[in-house]
Amino acid sequence: MSNNPILTSPHKLKLAVFGLNVSGGCSMTDSPEVLQVTWDESVRIAQLAESAGIEAIIPVARWKGMGGNVNFNHRNFETFTWAAGLSAVTSKISVFATFHVPTVHPIRAAKEVATIDHISRGRFGLNIVAGWNSKEIGMFGVPQKEHDVRYDVADDWITLCKRLWTAKGEFDHEGPYFPSPGAYSEPKPVQSPHPPLMSAGNSARGQLFAAQHADLNFVVAKDIAAAGEIAATGKRIAAEKFGRRMQVFGQAYVVCRDTEREAREYVNDYVNVKGDWPGVRNLLDVLVPNSKSALGTGWEAMASNLIAGYGAIPLVGTAEQVVEGMLAFSRAGLDGITLSWLNYDAGLTQFKQKILPLMRQAGLRE
Ligand SMILES: Cc1cc2nc3c(=O)[nH]c(=O)nc-3n(C[C@H](O)[C@H](O)[C@H](O)COP(=O)(O)O)c2cc1C
Repeated sequence: MSNNPILTSPHKLKLAVFGLNVSGGCSMTDSPEVLQVTWDESVRIAQLAESAGIEAIIPVARWKGMGGNVNFNHRNFETFTWAAGLSAVTSKISVFATFHVPTVHPIRAAKEVATIDHISRGRFGLNIVAGWNSKEIGMFGVPQKEHDVRYDVADDWITLCKRLWTAKGEFDHEGPYFPSPGAYSEPKPVQSPHPPLMSAGNSARGQLFAAQHADLNFVVAKDIAAAGEIAATGKRIAAEKFGRRMQVFGQAYVVCRDTEREAREYVNDYVNVKGDWPGVRNLLDVLVPNSKSALGTGWEAMASNLIAGYGAIPLVGTAEQVVEGMLAFSRAGLDGITLSWLNYDAGLTQFKQKILPLMRQAGLRE
């Protein structure tokens, strides 16, 4: 049983604010409007999102930045302690934390999850990242495992967590990566059997992991139609292979102005004039080894999209156009989307005043 809005909300298109704990948020630019990462800023944005009825806030787990001009995301709050603090100053919104599996033992993770679920009175959620950026995981002194093996490790990790969240008394866990004789954890989380699990598996192995374990998976796609196709595949695997229902979310960044032209000029300024082009090369190399030669002529478009919104799908234009895009996500079969802005304060205020009423008219929000 859960009363967590990310699972129970009646809205047709659910919403989550993404990336609000990292410097720059989701925009690789030296515009002064980007997130600075102070506690007051995190509290303000979390409470603003809650007042707009948004279902969840989802941080990014990051340990170092992307170099370049602004060292994108180099300031970042650790997501568990951050989520615990925000749980105490909010009352309705679902608060997520994000774990890099190789950085935390599951016994510790399971207990941290249970503790924050108590602090939040059952509003907590967990994003599981099997491992992504080898340079930052390398800071922990252990080389990253090969891609698919990371998901095997994550599978054992979350299997032990689930047993710790549900088993009465002690048990022996004989998993291949985290054997644990006499495993034990109390108290259990408030949500039963456990808080919602999120992942963002997009590869075949990542999708399989999500289908087996995640309540919601996030897709990265070049456009809304492609996001819909990936979502349908993930849902089908979850249902057919594991008998589970899994929600799938897309990702969007929002730039909304009175005219489409103003919105596009604004994007052009923060991407092409103020964008961190040296930094985005480093990010691309994390995503695609030797990215410049491997991506050929597609390099610049991909870089520009990463600068604008961390690879999310653009919702750029008037409020009506933004809501049309949201409708398209919903029609493509997505249960929800993450949102980010260059300026989260202004974006969320504008969302409440201009976009939310149009979403209601469109039947996306009640
Ligand atoms: C919405 C979203 C949130 C993510 N959060 C993080 C994060 O906080 N830290 C991180 O290192 N990777 C993060 N990732 C990366 C994913 O966990 C995953 O590694 C990536 O989507 C590639 O999928 P694959 O492992 O199946 O190839 C995120 C991805 C998405 C789409």
